[in-house]
Amino acid sequence: MGRQRLNVQAPVARLFAERWSTRAFDAEKPVTAGQLAACLEAARWAPSCFGEEPWRFVVADRFSDEAAWRRVLDALAEKNRLWAQNAPVLILTACVPTFSQDGRTNRWCEYDAGQAAVSLCLQAAELGLASHQMGGFDVEAVREATGLPEGWHVMSVTALGHPAAPEAAPGPFRDLETAPRSRRPIEDIAHAGRWGEPWRPPAACGWEARYQETAAEQLPWFHEGLDADIGRALDELGLATGRLLDLGCGPGTQAVALAARGFAVTASDISETAVDSARARAEKAGVDVRFVVDDVLDSRLDGPFDIIVDRGVFHCFAEPEAQAAYLATIRRLLAEGGHLLLKCFHKHETSEMGPPGRYDAGDIRRLFADGFTLLAARDSRFVGPGNDAQPKALFCILQRSAD
Ligand SMILES: Cc1cc2nc3c(=O)[nH]c(=O)nc-3n(C[C@H](O)[C@H](O)[C@H](O)COP(=O)(O)O)c2cc1C
Ligand SMILES: C[S@@+](CC[C@H](N)C(=O)[O-])C[C@H]1O[C@@H](n2cnc3c(N)ncnc32)[C@H](O)[C@@H]1O
Repeated sequence: MGRQRLNVQAPVARLFAERWSTRAFDAEKPVTAGQLAACLEAARWAPSCFGEEPWRFVVADRFSDEAAWRRVLDALAEKNRLWAQNAPVLILTACVPTFSQDGRTNRWCEYDAGQAAVSLCLQAAELGLASHQMGGFDVEAVREATGLPEGWHVMSVTALGHPAAPEAAPGPFRDLETAPRSRRPIEDIAHAGRWGEPWRPPAACGWEARYQETAAEQLPWFHEGLDADIGRALDELGLATGRLLDLGCGPGTQAVALAARGFAVTASDISETAVDSARARAEKAGVDVRFVVDDVLDSRLDGPFDIIVDRGVFHCFAEPEAQAAYLATIRRLLAEGGHLLLKCFHKHETSEMGPPGRYDAGDIRRLFADGFTLLAARDSRFVGPGNDAQPKALFCILQRSAD
């Protein structure tokens, strides 16, 4: 389970990534009665309006009652039957639309049944089981198959079983098993105070999630040792000492290598987890680096620095306001005559994955026109930890001019 990394905008419990709707079930492996009990127990503790608990389930288990299971299976839409036939358990979720106390209409009954159903699925994920809810079936056939009385609402059928390899999914669905999963962004689903005003998560949350869920060494930008473009630029400029800021230091490989070269390094990042891992790397390497959690767009750092190194940070900002805030920070922190060594995704890099900002030399000259001189711009690559595609990069040397 948890077949792929979710592109989350904030750190969440692992369980949310581990629940997903597979179509590859192991037809030979039963779900034990104990596992079923745990799933139903989780559903039982779902919240409900007035504590009505309007949900009810009918469990059809092929290993204990094949006829009951077959009746539910036969009521499913054909497209669902193709893969659900490998799920050893099919569970009907139903609910009652009136309050038991006074017979009034309970307009929240379906809402509450959904809460119970997802609780069941999350508990299944916790147990390493796979689940897949379905709405595609003949409602009256399911009612008939399960003996659900009139007046009860048929909501969904949940397929439950042990996950199998993607190849176990029937042909037409196989690719879906490994297809990327995505969701609408938080700012599209949440409004701040009033409809129409997007609720925006802090950028730090997304980076924090990324560093919490992935070991630094596995990140695509991880580069052990000094990036060749940075090393070459320092040599060309004859820079071997001075106050240096490694901006957005991430796992800290560059900060460590630069400190080892003799620079007085400050390293900052918006992610606390990244800074912690960078600090550990510096301690292990026995080099002295001052680490700071800091947002370059709202920086509390004090300068001046003789050199600022940005390997993969500026390209995170495609919005003009964010670019302006970044530029204001660099202008404030870089000493007059100081150098900014900037490596970003190249405009010619067309891969969907990666940062939103992509630039060529003309873009950088224009964007940094106020307060900087572009001394050099070179086509390059980002070399990561694996043998993956090496994204096209632009490496720039900029010098802070007098105000
Ligand atoms: C009420 C409901 C009905 C659904 N009906 C079907 C269905 O008939 N067939 C199907 O393949 N998936 C069905 N799904 C699964 C959704 O397509 C799936 O949850 C959604 O695409 C998100 O994917 P995820 O569960 O892997 O995160 C249903 C899900 C819900 C909650
Ligand atoms: C592509 S990574 C590069 C990390 C590092 N420079 C390296 O080369 O390994 C971009 C880094 O920028 C950091 N970052 C993103 N937005 C930031 C911000 N507003 N302020 C400071 N750091 C930020 C991220 O946390 C991440 O570590």
